[in-house]
Amino acid sequence: MGVGGCLALPWRCLVVLCLRLLFLVPAGVPVRSGDATFPKAMDNVTVRQGESATLRCTVDERVTRVAWLNRSTILYAGNDKWSIDNRVVILSNTKTQYSIKIHNVDIYDEGPYTCSVQTDNHPKTSRVHLIVQVPPQIVNISSDITVNEGSSVTLMCLAFGRPEPTVTWRHLSGKTFVSEDEYLEITGITREQSGEYECSAVNDVAVPDVRKVKVTVNYPPYISNAKNTGASVGQKGILQCEASAVPVAEFQCHSLGVTSKGRLSTLTFFNVSEKDYGNYTCVATNQLGNTNASIILYGAKQHKP
Ligand SMILES: *[C@@H]1O[C@H](CO)[C@@H](O)[C@H](O)[C@H]1NC(C)=O
Ligand SMILES: *[C@@H]1O[C@H](CO)[C@@H](O)[C@H](O)[C@H]1NC(C)=O
Ligand SMILES: *[C@@H]1O[C@H](CO)[C@@H](O)[C@H](O)[C@H]1NC(C)=O
Ligand SMILES: *[C@@H]1O[C@H](CO)[C@@H](O)[C@H](O)[C@H]1NC(C)=O
Ligand SMILES: *[C@@H]1O[C@H](CO)[C@@H](O)[C@H](O)[C@H]1NC(C)=O
Ligand SMILES: *[C@@H]1O[C@H](CO)[C@@H](O)[C@H](O)[C@H]1NC(C)=O
Repeated sequence: MGVGGCLALPWRCLVVLCLRLLFLVPAGVPVRSGDATFPKAMDNVTVRQGESATLRCTVDERVTRVAWLNRSTILYAGNDKWSIDNRVVILSNTKTQYSIKIHNVDIYDEGPYTCSVQTDNHPKTSRVHLIVQVPPQIVNISSDITVNEGSSVTLMCLAFGRPEPTVTWRHLSGKTFVSEDEYLEITGITREQSGEYECSAVNDVAVPDVRKVKVTVNYPPYISNAKNTGASVGQKGILQCEASAVPVAEFQCHSLGVTSKGRLSTLTFFNVSEKDYGNYTCVATNQLGNTNASIILYGAKQHKP
């Protein structure tokens, strides 16, 4: 059947057939603009998900039939609504403009829309792309995690958005970007690599979506400070032992006068006597191991003021 046969058919059929003709046109052939090529549709329309999109088609008084199509589906033909979608409404059907509006646009609405008109018995079409943007959103991210030093860790941050967001990982105490990817892999993690990691999902639609994951690295205790201390008889003497560990170390001390506060253990002699002088051992333990250090309490000369 030729184009002549097409024109003899009822209008609804015509639109469909003309659309078929449209799809026979190789992709990429531009719709020429200017007086001879009505209709003139607008440039691509970009809206955010949830907003409304207006599709405008400029026409003139020679135009006898008008329709808006979504891909191959007629939405409106003249004032007649063909679409059953109640988000689609007609805005204007005048001698100069034929426009429809889509409310509450969703990502499925993205794609080519065609304004199809008939001028002097010649069908013409023009296409506009509806582009739907979505702000970046992190949809799944690793939970806070505790691992032992030396093990391997993979953090995941999955994000959605249109255009697809760029995902990056940053170590907050390191202040550097550690991954330009949804996955952050750390092999043989060290205690310096513990702390908060921040995932950012960025596209240019709205502000980035940012979330944090806390990585705790367990390591066995080491004694960072244990100094020999002098004290004279009759005075107060204090021995201190400081240990670093995750989880916090416990100090094993069975004598009286020992207090532990976090990483610091203090042994206090309220009234030093000769028999107190000697070699003391500070033992720090956590679930990963233990360590010890010796501290000497020695006699110091009493200074008179
Ligand atoms: C409209 O969007 C389509 C599909 O994204 C693209 O191929 C085309 O180049 C765009 N046209 C203009 C004028 O931006
Ligand atoms: C456009 O067509 C697509 C694919 O059939 C559909 O999912 C979408 O809901 C349609 N949108 C409108 C506004 O008709
Ligand atoms: C997140 O991803 C993990 C690992 O792929 C999966 O087990 C979990 O079900 C996901 N959670 C959600 C809410 O999609
Ligand atoms: C310290 O101990 C000595 C000997 O036991 C005692 O004579 C002295 O009174 C004590 N001093 C204090 C301040 O308790
Ligand atoms: C204290 O005791 C430890 C072992 O318990 C030993 O290795 C160290 O040499 C001793 N220090 C002194 C000054 O005697
Ligand atoms: C102190 O540590 C050494 C090994 O580093 C160990 O042989 C010793 O038994 C420990 N001492 C105590 C009192 O835990």
